[in-house]
Amino acid sequence: MGISERRAERHKGRHVAQMLASASRVGADANVLGTPIVNGTDLEIGDRFQIISAHRQTTLGGPGRIRIGDGVFVNAGVVVYSEMAITIEDDVALANEVYVMDTSSHGMEGREPYAAPVTIGAGTWVGARAIVLPGVTIGRRVVVGAGAVVTKDVPDEVLVAGNPARVLRSLTYPSHCKRAWHDIYCFCPGSLRNPTPS
Ligand SMILES: CC(C)(COP(=O)(O)OP(=O)(O)OC[C@H]1O[C@@H](n2cnc3c(N)ncnc32)[C@H](O)[C@@H]1OP(=O)(O)O)[C@@H](O)C(=O)NCCC(=O)NCCS
Repeated sequence: MGISERRAERHKGRHVAQMLASASRVGADANVLGTPIVNGTDLEIGDRFQIISAHRQTTLGGPGRIRIGDGVFVNAGVVVYSEMAITIEDDVALANEVYVMDTSSHGMEGREPYAAPVTIGAGTWVGARAIVLPGVTIGRRVVVGAGAVVTKDVPDEVLVAGNPARVLRSLTYPSHCKRAWHDIYCFCPGSLRNPTPS
């Protein structure tokens, strides 16, 4: 590695440390593009975390418990806001402007705000501008279509879409495929590492 590459690596390391400073744990090989607002007070992040803040600022925080697994990708404009508990398991992708919340923040009809934990299962891909409401558990390797409003629990390995989100069909994967989405970090058929699966 040359001097300029080492310098760039140091700069990247400082940027990542600065941007994710509120997390009590950040695993190896995190990558931060842009300047997201990451201010969770009970936040732990796994290995190979990628977060982008670009045309829309990405925010990840609140006073609740946020646990992010390994290999999670958070794209531009995502909002993850927790006052209770949000768990984003390994290999989840949150596309542009996805909104995940575990509290309704305001009460209605004289009631207190509704707050309940949210879990997004391992390998799930949440499409652009989808909204995941308080109390929802999304299963493993689910695809949530763009613009969906997820109001109820979603079982493993299905495609859901629409408002309110409904199951459109089951999904099937090759046995070695951990994720419902593919990028350079996975070996799934159709990914950049494995563009022509045998
Ligand atoms: C859901 C998705 C993955 C397509 O999956 P697919 O299996 O190829 O689905 P199809 O395109 O065959 O559509 C199946 C049906 O679902 C409907 N559908 C597809 N996506 C939908 C969506 N987001 N919302 C509502 N309905 C949707 C189609 O209109 C079709 O309906 P029909 O059977 O009545 O004609 C895709 O539409 C999508 O939402 N992708 C997300 C892309 C994204 O957010 N990228 C982010 C980049 S960071």
